[in-house]
Amino acid sequence: MTKSFVDLLRSRRSIRKYATEPLDPEMVVQLMEAALLAPSSKGKRPCEFILVDDKQKLVALSECKNFGAAMLREASLGIVVCGRMDVSDVWIEDTSVAATTLLYQAEALGLGACWVQVRERGLDDDTPAALVVRSVLGLPAEVEPLAIISVGRKLRDSRPHDEELPWEKVHTNGWNNANQD
Ligand SMILES: Cc1cc2nc3c(=O)[nH]c(=O)nc-3n(C[C@H](O)[C@H](O)[C@H](O)COP(=O)(O)O)c2cc1C
Repeated sequence: MTKSFVDLLRSRRSIRKYATEPLDPEMVVQLMEAALLAPSSKGKRPCEFILVDDKQKLVALSECKNFGAAMLREASLGIVVCGRMDVSDVWIEDTSVAATTLLYQAEALGLGACWVQVRERGLDDDTPAALVVRSVLGLPAEVEPLAIISVGRKLRDSRPHDEELPWEKVHTNGWNNANQD
């Protein structure tokens, strides 16, 4: 049965452990269809996606920063979400929307996925993660990597978001101090 949208929002979790069983090619098509349908400012579509299923490259990408990228070693697929700075001044927003859309499409397909932040992250020696990604994938100068979405089959079910939501963050008709501690 198809999940309602709110059920999808609640069940999506960051999944960092994956089974070895590969993805069906049709799943990859559906993931990318979702990403390509994501809205972009002025419809400029500055997003570019690099699909990585080469194990050596996934390992190299997993080493683009010291923390938070290791799951790419086990992932079936890394989707490197990039933006063209020469196409849109708000490429960060547009690529973020596309990356988010990928996370929810993965959940809709029953797959596990996690956002690996690249922009503004790096190695302890100050090498930017983007520089590592750029050299592994041969990106041209105008194409800036935002994040990598790691994707694989879930090893186990994860707990849905069933916590109390922070409704105090919702303000009506202006800033409401009473909402905050
Ligand atoms: C902009 C952004 C950057 C993130 N970067 C990373 C990352 O580099 N590595 C990682 O393991 N998780 C990363 N995450 C996942 C968050 O840690 C995760 O979404 C958060 O802890 C909430 O958990 P949930 O996704 O299971 O709801 C990122 C999420 C977002 C939205």
